[in-house]
Amino acid sequence: MQCSDIKLPRETMRLDISVQSAAGQTDDTQCLERHPDVRRAYIFSNHSRRIRREGAMEPFQMRCIECGKAHDMTRPAYACSSCGNLLEVRMDLKAAKERLSKSGFRKRPLSVWRYRELIPVGKGAQVFSMSEGGTPLVRCSRIAEQLGLKSLWIKFDGTNPTGSFKDRGMTVGITKAKELGMNTVTCASTGNTSASLAAYAGIAGMKCVVLIPEGKVALGKLAQAMMHGATVISVKGNFDQALSMVMKSSDKLGMYVLNSVNPFRIEGQKTAAFEVCDQLGGVAPKYLYIPVGNGGNSAAYWKGFKEYESLGQSEGHPKVRGVQAEGAAPVADMFTKGSKELVPVKKPDTVATAIRIGNPANWKKTVRAIKESGGYASTVSDEEILAAQKMMARMEGIFAEPAGAAALAGLIKDLELGDIDRSAEIVCVSTGHGLKDPDTAIGQCEKPKAAEASVGALEKIITGGRR
Ligand code: F0G
Repeated sequence: MQCSDIKLPRETMRLDISVQSAAGQTDDTQCLERHPDVRRAYIFSNHSRRIRREGAMEPFQMRCIECGKAHDMTRPAYACSSCGNLLEVRMDLKAAKERLSKSGFRKRPLSVWRYRELIPVGKGAQVFSMSEGGTPLVRCSRIAEQLGLKSLWIKFDGTNPTGSFKDRGMTVGITKAKELGMNTVTCASTGNTSASLAAYAGIAGMKCVVLIPEGKVALGKLAQAMMHGATVISVKGNFDQALSMVMKSSDKLGMYVLNSVNPFRIEGQKTAAFEVCDQLGGVAPKYLYIPVGNGGNSAAYWKGFKEYESLGQSEGHPKVRGVQAEGAAPVADMFTKGSKELVPVKKPDTVATAIRIGNPANWKKTVRAIKESGGYASTVSDEEILAAQKMMARMEGIFAEPAGAAALAGLIKDLELGDIDRSAEIVCVSTGHGLKDPDTAIGQCEKPKAAEASVGALEKIITGGRR
């Protein structure tokens, strides 16, 4: 079937993702069509309706990461009702393998929803999408040469619709929020989550309330949250305090929390790992460098690599190397000290405001992920972050925000310590775009040179008056 054969009902924005069965029909859903509506949802064919009649089984479960207790996925839940630990979505791998093999998913464009058989939203869910994912995996030959590496790649997730990886989680999170019948969504944020949530709440017609730490959010992110119409609350405190306020009040105020403690956010974010494997020709890299703030994205990547390998879609999995800023490094501290419990940093501080977090809500998930992968977490200084940020911008054309350069900074530090196989495939994750934080960028560059509007003035600057 051709894309043009699919009739697009203009007034609907439904993406039916219930292609969960082993029904085995040729998959006409692989044909994506962009909806003309500003809401930018994808429309798929009616294929799934046929499948629903056949009574496909529900292939996902939500369980506590510690005690394993199963939780109802049709209600908002962020922590285990028995032991208070984090929740995660688990997938019936056998059933998923079958669904995937019959889906023809490889013919779809690279994007979050390319992998919809592996994303736990219900049958007939209305999906809210802005073409997230499908971000470039940039081969960084110039930096590789300078560092003496054979193969270095940067997964530039700053090219997502709102300029950060958060959009991967948010398209799934908002889809879920709607599915659960919620009208208001909320988060605490160092900036990017609030920008992304505000945009996705907008396309879903939902109310959005974001809490940000006063004076510590980069200008571009604040502008986004405000422009997309969120109610922005500036908290006289840090991110950790703002998140605690959100968690304590959301039930009472009827707000759905879309911080990364929400397991569905992670399910969207794991698709970045699928993409990396697909972009590398079906093989996982040997090392994955990734910044760690609240700990969600590193856990999501690891979940993605493991699932994709278990599903037979990729070979191997990387050692995950989590990178934190020196002034906000409670997870890296655990690795250095060999401790089992996280000791929160009371007054976290770093130029990379996105990862200015002292009490990461997902610490258990990320520590487990990093350990299971055979990796570790370490720190970089603000100077090292800024140097890596400039290097990426000047040598590879990648303008990342400071947190989005922390991964490369971590790699450079490891190379100095001699702790890496230089001939291996290495991927650094760049999580957010540099335009989000123009102040930090301008602050570390030479000021523009002032000139009168004349050719003579230009000549003088270029030649230094030597001619
Ligand atoms: N990089 C960027 C650009 C971020 O915005 C964040 C987190 C991280 C890395 C760390 O990811 O928390 O999953 O370990 N930003 C959140 C926010 C906290 O509110 O925007 P993580």
